[in-house]
Amino acid sequence: MTESETSTVPRTLQVALGERSYPIHIGAGLLGDPAWLTPYLAGRQVMIVTNEAVAPHYLARLKAGLPSDAMVRELVLPDGEATKTLASVGLVWDALLEAGFNRRCTLIALGGGVIGDMVGFAAACYQRGVAFIQVPTTLLSQVDSSVGGKTGVNHPLGKNMIGAFWQPRAVLIDTDTLRTLPAKELSAGLAEVIKYGLIRDAEFLAWLEDEMTALRALQPEALAWAIERSCRLKAEIVAEDETEQGVRALLNLGHTFGHAIEAHQGYGQWLHGEAVGVGMLMAAELSHRLGWLNAGDVERTASIIAAAGLPLEAPADMGVEDFLTRMRLDKKNVDERLRLILLEALGRAVIHDQTPRELLEELLTAFPRS
Ligand code: NAD
Ligand code: GLY
Repeated sequence: MTESETSTVPRTLQVALGERSYPIHIGAGLLGDPAWLTPYLAGRQVMIVTNEAVAPHYLARLKAGLPSDAMVRELVLPDGEATKTLASVGLVWDALLEAGFNRRCTLIALGGGVIGDMVGFAAACYQRGVAFIQVPTTLLSQVDSSVGGKTGVNHPLGKNMIGAFWQPRAVLIDTDTLRTLPAKELSAGLAEVIKYGLIRDAEFLAWLEDEMTALRALQPEALAWAIERSCRLKAEIVAEDETEQGVRALLNLGHTFGHAIEAHQGYGQWLHGEAVGVGMLMAAELSHRLGWLNAGDVERTASIIAAAGLPLEAPADMGVEDFLTRMRLDKKNVDERLRLILLEALGRAVIHDQTPRELLEELLTAFPRS
């Protein structure tokens, strides 16, 4: 596929962070066109980092979109969440040093959230910080992880526990890359898209309810609009609260429950988005038990998560204590108080640290398992 298969025109959003502001370019067929990458290169030295699943599809096309005088190196790592480690970051640094790259080099992260988070962290630390560009190729990374500058790796004792805020110079989203993405991964990305509707935009949520079939069929206009709206919502939140002192925590709707599932099952068993989908439903159920959402709201939440092709039940072998133990380690907690993101209404999320323990335990006991 060399030509864009869609009729959508490229669009650009801005993440407004003063001197560190950057664009998000969204469109079909952007990879391979030098106009989208060249302006963001810090100098001639370019290191592309990708993985074995993505490289065969997109590495050559990305390289074709670099200026002919660029000094390009590439590093292709193994696929999977297990690659998101300090050891992989070390491989990136080794490659940069072996190539003799200096502070004016640019790293390009070509892949999903695993590559984006890990390469961003490598860029944050190399020679105390160098330029990097996000080229996300999963829906999840296009609507979430590539925007906002959260970078990092997993530690054996906790996911994303080592990291830095380091903003990219640009985010380049070629929607055509989603054509090779497995359906399960598309569904996982849709969980994060639904999240934006639930936390901040009831109108978008209603649109998603109508368009879910089109999105799962990769209908170009629907896809471009969902990505644009999601990125716009994320960019607004990041501009308001870059380092998560307040409102940015809302982006973690479903994540406290979801991270507990991911960690308990062993990373990679459940996809992040699948766990977040169940976690959002748990948050909706808890919000109902607090008297905020009505039964119809919870039903709508369950229906849209199911329509996205995501599971609605927690793992059978996860007991109440398994959840509570993992949830106590959540980064959002302050002074050992559990902070949850809950829903006052569909489209309006809040940070809540007053959930009575009995209510949480009731939810964790009653929530369906499979
Ligand atoms: P991923 O990077 O593992 O990608 C999913 C799978 O799809 C991988 O096997 C990958 O190789 C493959 N793939 C990627 N693009 C493809 C394409 N176009 N065609 C075919 N296969 C392709 O996972 P993900 O869901 O993109 O990201 C999950 C990671 O993102 C987690 O580590 C999570 O912690 C992180 N995350 C970070 C943030 C943030 O703000 N930084 C936000 C959300 C999630
Ligand atoms: N995905 C959560 C955040 O970017 O803040």
